[in-house]
Amino acid sequence: MTGIHPAWLPAEAFRAVGSRRVAVHGDGELVDTIRAEVASAGSPSSSSPDLALSIAATPGSLGDEGFALARSDGVTTVVADAPAGLLYGFFHVVRLGEAAFNADRPVEEHRPALRRRMVEHWDNVHVNPVMGQVERGYAGGSLFWERGALRADLRRVRDYARLLASCGINAVAVNNVNVHATEAHLLTDRLGEVAAIAAELRPYGIRVHLSVNFASPIMLGGLATADPLDPSVREWWAATTSRVYETIPDFGGYVVKADSEGQPGPFAYGRSHADGANMLADALAPHGGVVHWRAFVYNHRQDWRDRSTDRARAAYDHFAPLDGQFHDNAILQVKHGPIDFQTREPVSPVIAAMPGTRLAVELQATQEYTGQQRHVCYLAPMWSEMLRFRLHADDGPAVAAIAESGGLVAVSNVGDDPFWTGHPLAQANLYAFGRLAWAPDADPLAILDEWIGLTFPAAPPQLRQTLRAMMDDSWHTYEKYTAPLGVGFMVRPGHHYGPDVDGYEYTSWGTYHFADRDGVGVDRTRATGTGFTGQYPQPWADVYESLDQCPDELLLFFHHVPYGHVLRSGSTVIQHIYDTHFDGADEAARIRDSWSVVGHLVDPGVDARVRERLDEQVRSAEEWRDQINTYFFRKSGVPDAKNRRIY
Ligand code: GCU
Repeated sequence: MTGIHPAWLPAEAFRAVGSRRVAVHGDGELVDTIRAEVASAGSPSSSSPDLALSIAATPGSLGDEGFALARSDGVTTVVADAPAGLLYGFFHVVRLGEAAFNADRPVEEHRPALRRRMVEHWDNVHVNPVMGQVERGYAGGSLFWERGALRADLRRVRDYARLLASCGINAVAVNNVNVHATEAHLLTDRLGEVAAIAAELRPYGIRVHLSVNFASPIMLGGLATADPLDPSVREWWAATTSRVYETIPDFGGYVVKADSEGQPGPFAYGRSHADGANMLADALAPHGGVVHWRAFVYNHRQDWRDRSTDRARAAYDHFAPLDGQFHDNAILQVKHGPIDFQTREPVSPVIAAMPGTRLAVELQATQEYTGQQRHVCYLAPMWSEMLRFRLHADDGPAVAAIAESGGLVAVSNVGDDPFWTGHPLAQANLYAFGRLAWAPDADPLAILDEWIGLTFPAAPPQLRQTLRAMMDDSWHTYEKYTAPLGVGFMVRPGHHYGPDVDGYEYTSWGTYHFADRDGVGVDRTRATGTGFTGQYPQPWADVYESLDQCPDELLLFFHHVPYGHVLRSGSTVIQHIYDTHFDGADEAARIRDSWSVVGHLVDPGVDARVRERLDEQVRSAEEWRDQINTYFFRKSGVPDAKNRRIY
């Protein structure tokens, strides 16, 4: 491999389309994009085509982004009401490959389940002294900025847009939610940089969103206040937003992290988060924009001695009482779990608590807590479980249905790395995010197979099967050798990589495990703990409250139990800790072994990078295993029933 890896769009992925005669009917920039794709695939254009892509003469019910696919009389047809739908239909045909052409097909209609499918970049303009060029980035620098300036050459952003559109993503927030002094200027005097990025994304139907600092009227406008009810502040936002739309007419809107981890917000003025969000919503409304207001609000200066304050409760406590107060174009963006993108968390109860508010669900493709793109960790099974979860009861809406009008947002795992995501296999997470945002009921294993087929088109069955086996269950493997039973964290403070069981135990961050000589876990029950279980509707309020019914994998998230507590699996907590940590590290070693048999079947550059990452994964998994096991052995004094080596 020389240059940039093509990810899931190598030239071979276009072979089926490229060898067919294609006709494209319709007008507009996105239709021109399809024409250019067809030409570069090598398809001769023809009036008696094998593949006909057209905008419907009489628009029907497919919506802006849907399409209908059929094949009869030797012609495959894609029809859409609007250009974006046609583009998605084209990429669907690419995904199908030969299967799009080898037999008749009845008409199938496809529409995205979620309106907005967004990747959120935590890219900084300046290299931040603590967080670097990309906050929580594990794939090199930013695709957009380099050491304080917009990249002179943005061609790669166009390639990125193509990758995103091909898996169904339609929005990109370009900068970090922690908006530092330099980055704040992207809203005003550096808006041209955002416009330049938007110009690269637009031909693929992707709209640009911008993270803004709540204190912008002070920082940029010279006002004395950022009070959301102050008329001069409201005027400033309205005028500033109008200028944004003069420059970027299809601008998507703002993303705001307010009153969170040191970012300014409405609390400083005694105003609510609905006041703050609605002010921005009002500024955006005349232009059709939305504000994504993040619900990640908690006290990060907690006293670790105080066991009554519970970070898991914070988002619900702050936001549930505001349900019904947000304007229609204010979207509350909720992390999928109540804490912070851990390897295992319950679904956030906020998602069930705000039927009168448009909600977007946020997840992390960047593997901050899931191995930092050094460990193989295919996250689609986790996301799928969460999107299908029914918070109310079996007949209530799934999380994905609640997020329909708000959307699904992933913190991006992409940087300027030649493989896009550092670990070449981490590309699958970005791909799967797009596919799940389009169709949340899709099977994560089928998505994985699709990704393998596109990314490694020449792969013999042995390679496909090995990749599938390495990746399919890799989230569970990672979970096994890291923090046990949903307790979370136990990572090195700051960079969050590798084990440090007590790293956060005596800090202000609200992420504790409370291990002592007798037991471990956080009591979040109503009976004796923080009462967090009471934020759930039934049946979950009772299921999580009950020691007998609480699912094993979340036990220590909800309960503090003795080491001898017997899990539903029949094992004790302490023995479960030992067993999973030995197993998990063994599985990591097996993943490496299986790759060593097939690695020569892929490009040597890919092979070398994967090997290097697998070596680190095995080393790190052993470190996790030994630190966790040793920690709990020393705390509890309970020996391993199987008498394995603990230090
Ligand atoms: C995590 C992450 C931060 C990030 C924050 C957020 O806490 O470590 O880097 O800023 O999430 O989502 O705002």
